[in-house]
Amino acid sequence: AKVFTYDPGFTSTASCDSTITFIDGNKGELLHRGYPIDQLAEKSHYLEVCYLLLYGELPSAKELEVFEQTITNHTMLHEQMVNFFRGFRRDAHPMAIMVGVVGAMSAFYHDSTDINDPRQREIASHRLIAKMPTIAAWAYKYSIGQPFVYPRNDLDYASNFLRMCFSVPAEEYEVNPILSRAMDRIFTLHADHEQNASTSTVRLASSSGANPFACIAAGIACLWGPAHGGANQACLEMLEEIGTVDRIPEFIDRAKDKNDPFRLMGFGHRVYKNFDPRATVMKQSADEVLELLGVEDNPKLQVAKELEKEALNDPYFAEKKLFPNVDFYSGIILEAMGFPTSMFTPIFALSRTVGWISQWKEQLDDPQLKIGRPRQLYMGETRRDYVEIENR
Ligand code: CMC
Repeated sequence: AKVFTYDPGFTSTASCDSTITFIDGNKGELLHRGYPIDQLAEKSHYLEVCYLLLYGELPSAKELEVFEQTITNHTMLHEQMVNFFRGFRRDAHPMAIMVGVVGAMSAFYHDSTDINDPRQREIASHRLIAKMPTIAAWAYKYSIGQPFVYPRNDLDYASNFLRMCFSVPAEEYEVNPILSRAMDRIFTLHADHEQNASTSTVRLASSSGANPFACIAAGIACLWGPAHGGANQACLEMLEEIGTVDRIPEFIDRAKDKNDPFRLMGFGHRVYKNFDPRATVMKQSADEVLELLGVEDNPKLQVAKELEKEALNDPYFAEKKLFPNVDFYSGIILEAMGFPTSMFTPIFALSRTVGWISQWKEQLDDPQLKIGRPRQLYMGETRRDYVEIENR
C-alpha cells in the first residue's frame, strides 16, 4: 500500500515542476524565466512580462509589437456582457462580479474551450489578459453608478485601465504618465508567484480538464481571501481602523498577543523570510506617487509610514521575520491614486491572470499531467450501524 505524507497547508510538498518562476525565500529572490523581478520592474513593462511568462523568452521588437496588437484587439467585452454586469446589485463586491463574469466567459467563447487545440489555448490566454482590465474597470464603474467606459486601443495597457476607471463622459481625461507607470509596475510585480494558493487552485481546477475561463474564475475566488490577495484591502481597512498614529502601539500589541486573532495585514510571507523583493520596488514607487500627488497629509498614509517604522523596530516582528509584503505598499499607492479599497484585490486579480494562464498552459503541456487528488488523514467515527430515526 502507498504511504501518504501528511502536509496540511502544503508547506513541504511540490505539486508540479515548472519553468516559469523561481523564488528563493531566504535570499529574497524572485525570477521570471530567470530574469530578476527588480530588473523587469525597472526596465520592462507589463505586456512584455506577459509575453515572457507565456512564451518563455523576452520578445523581439517585432514579436512584442504583434503581441501588443493582439492583446489590444481583444480588449472589448461582448456587448451582451453589459446585461450580465447589470444583473448584480450595485453594492456587490467587484471580486464577486469578476468571479461571475470571468466564469461566464466560458458561455461566450465556446471556441476557446477546446483545450486540446494549442491555438485555442493561446486565444483564450490572449482574451483573458486583454479583457481583465475592462472587466475590473466595469465592475468598479457599475459599483459607483457611472456609465461603462469602453477600452481605447491607442492607449497602453495601464493607461487604458486608468481611463476606463476614472474618466467620465463629457470631460477630457489625461492619464498622468507617472501614475500610468506606477500602475504598470503594480501589474508587473503581481504577474506571477509560482504555486501560491490561487495558482494552485487554477492548476487543480484545470487538472480535471475544465475550461480556461472556469479555471481562472476559481483562481479569482481563491485570491479574494484576506490571507492572500485580499490582504491589500484588509491592510487599508486596518490603517483606517487604527486611525491615528498614537494608536499604533495598541495594534502592534494586539498583533503580538497570541490570544488575539488580529494580525498586521500586509506583513509576513510564507516563502520570503528576509524581505519581499517586490515590496522593495513597490516602496520606491509608493514614494514617487505620494510625492507626485502631494497626499502627505492623508491620515491613512501617515499611519502606514509610522506603522512600518514601528513594526520593523519591534523585536517580535524581527524574530519572526515579519516585514511589509507587496500588498502593504500596493495598497498605499492605490489609495493615493483614488481607488476604493474594494478595487485593490480586483487589480491584483487582473495582474495575476497572466501568471495563472501561463501555469495553466504549462500544466496542459505536461505529458505526465494527472488529475490533482490529495488524500487525507481520516479522523472521524469508525464503522457503525445505521440507527432508525425513532431510536435516536
Ligand atoms: N502579524 C502578526 N503576527 C504574524 C503575522 C502578522 N501579519 N504573520 C505571521 N505572524 C506570526 C504568526 O502568529 C506565527 O507566530 P507563532 O510562530 O508564534 O505561532 C508566525 O508569525 C508564523 O506565521 P504563520 O501564520 O505560521 O505563517 P504562514 O507562512 O502560514 O503565513 C501569511 C503567511 C502571509 C498568511 C501571514 O504572515 C499573514 O497572515 N499575514 C497577513 C496577511 C497578508 O499580508 N497576506 C499577504 C501575503 S503576500 C501576497 C499574497 O501572497 O497574496
